[in-house]
Amino acid sequence: MNPNPQIIVLDAGGQYCHLEARKVRDLGVYAEVRESETPAAELRGAKGLIVSGGPSSVYDPGSPTVDPAIFSSGQAVLGICYGQQVMAHLLGGKVHKGVKGEYGLATLELEETADPMFAGLSGRQQIWMSHRDVVETVPQGFQVAGHTDTCAVAAMASSARKLYGVQFHPEVVHTARGREYLSNFVFRVCGCRKDWDPRHRVPLIEQEIRDCVGRRKVFFFVSGGVDSSVAFTLARRALGPERVRGVYVDTGLMREGETDFVRSIAGLEVEDAQREFLAALEGSTEPERKRHIIGEEFVLVQERVIERQHLVNEDWMLGQGTIYPDTIESGGTAKAALIKTHHNRVAGIQRLIASGRIVEPLKSFYKDEVREVGRELGLPAELLDRHPFPGPGLAIRCLCSDRNAGVEATADGWLIPLRSVGVQGDERSYKPVLAIDALDMARATELTNRLSYMNRVIAGVRTRLAVSAMRVRACSLTAERIGRLRRADGIVRRLSHESGYDRRVWQFPVILIPLGTQEAPDSVVLRPVDSVDGMTAQSMEMDPELLARMCAELLTDSAVAGVFYDLTHKPPGTIEWE
Ligand code: XMP
Repeated sequence: MNPNPQIIVLDAGGQYCHLEARKVRDLGVYAEVRESETPAAELRGAKGLIVSGGPSSVYDPGSPTVDPAIFSSGQAVLGICYGQQVMAHLLGGKVHKGVKGEYGLATLELEETADPMFAGLSGRQQIWMSHRDVVETVPQGFQVAGHTDTCAVAAMASSARKLYGVQFHPEVVHTARGREYLSNFVFRVCGCRKDWDPRHRVPLIEQEIRDCVGRRKVFFFVSGGVDSSVAFTLARRALGPERVRGVYVDTGLMREGETDFVRSIAGLEVEDAQREFLAALEGSTEPERKRHIIGEEFVLVQERVIERQHLVNEDWMLGQGTIYPDTIESGGTAKAALIKTHHNRVAGIQRLIASGRIVEPLKSFYKDEVREVGRELGLPAELLDRHPFPGPGLAIRCLCSDRNAGVEATADGWLIPLRSVGVQGDERSYKPVLAIDALDMARATELTNRLSYMNRVIAGVRTRLAVSAMRVRACSLTAERIGRLRRADGIVRRLSHESGYDRRVWQFPVILIPLGTQEAPDSVVLRPVDSVDGMTAQSMEMDPELLARMCAELLTDSAVAGVFYDLTHKPPGTIEWE
């Protein structure tokens, strides 16, 4: 059993709430996330509440709100960004509806005060802002605690009632002293004590698995990623290897060396489905159709494994590596839902879920905490520190085309008639790609802001011929092209690893696009990104010398016409290309 949360984060809009809860847990205090509108009576057990940031305006119809009774419950409340605005709005202050907003670094001037929330923090300091609206007038009983050049109420306090608001984001690394704000709130204001260290929880998780499973057995579909591998290992330790089975499906769409690597995880069986996946994908060029086929194929293979091994009879339960953000609807990435649908659609699995025969030992942990648990279990760093890799594998990094077409000259660069995905709001859209000739991130950002007919900008780094002379050619997924991409990806991974670059990037997809000539029909795109959780991402720069080495080695493949660099941030360019 987990401790009762001492801090509850009320979710007013997606990604921020999880980062806030995670940062509180990093301080050694157990925190959980709840819906923003949870009635105050259900939150009484916590010592403090955080109302999270979010993208809405308090004036938008249906925007998230909180039960106003939380402000008179005697509990301490910290409103962050949108959370501060909701607090001000509900308590009689005034929120000004901004038009342009303020995004990025700013300098906060924090007043000298005796309030424990701001202890040791007065003076000028760097903060990170991301907002449109601002609090214009604080509610009665509140003081302005800090301001910036453009934001008059960057922090506010009602010390007597232990109610606080900050317009900036203390949970992000760019707020220099963010951790101290959260620590002051958690320890000095709320009086929490340390009760959380994921590493100490290993024996408790194992006991929970034993209690849940009883005399039955457990099977897992393991992807080779961190979560399912740690969950599988925990179950084997808790129940003994003879009562736990793990199956890894080799789709043939994996990276170089992946299947051998997965085999080295003790006790995993490999189901070879390479031929089926490739056959099912043959001839398909449309991105969403490719994803769909892969999802369907997973269902078929999993069903086959379940039938063959009689895993639906009463003796068996299904183990899953579900982690905390996946269990909360607004928190997981859109993809988490997508992956789950595929798995849940397997009839056998659905029966198991319906009868409650599911074990999810990591369902209250964040990714970083899963890594800590994994380290405690002695799993190799090579496994725990891996970058995320999408379930559909190299297939969604190997672009296809249903026609032959030339590139189009525009005033801003060359428009490449490929379909690559982007996001704006909740919308995913497929649009062509713009190629420019310089590695100029500022220009790329300006172009993506200005031109709505594309959502991605790439720069030619080294090409065998001018981009203007290249063509997109009709092609689909073939073993040959997947092999080409796998080799390119292998080169990039090896050089990133040797240079230490892989520890600085969050994820580094390598994409094959059918752009080139008859002799050299494909090009390679490098997409190193920095991110916290994959929801947003920044294109990342690379040391020119390392980039030159990558290009030289990639171009030793005579079928590769050129190497490009993706300069697009997310939004609008998603991390993956399909
Ligand atoms: P995007 O491309 O949406 O990706 O910016 C965000 C994160 O999600 C990963 N991703 C997936 N993971 N199955 C997965 O297991 C998928 O279908 C999938 N699609 C994207 C992506 O690698 C990135 O980390």
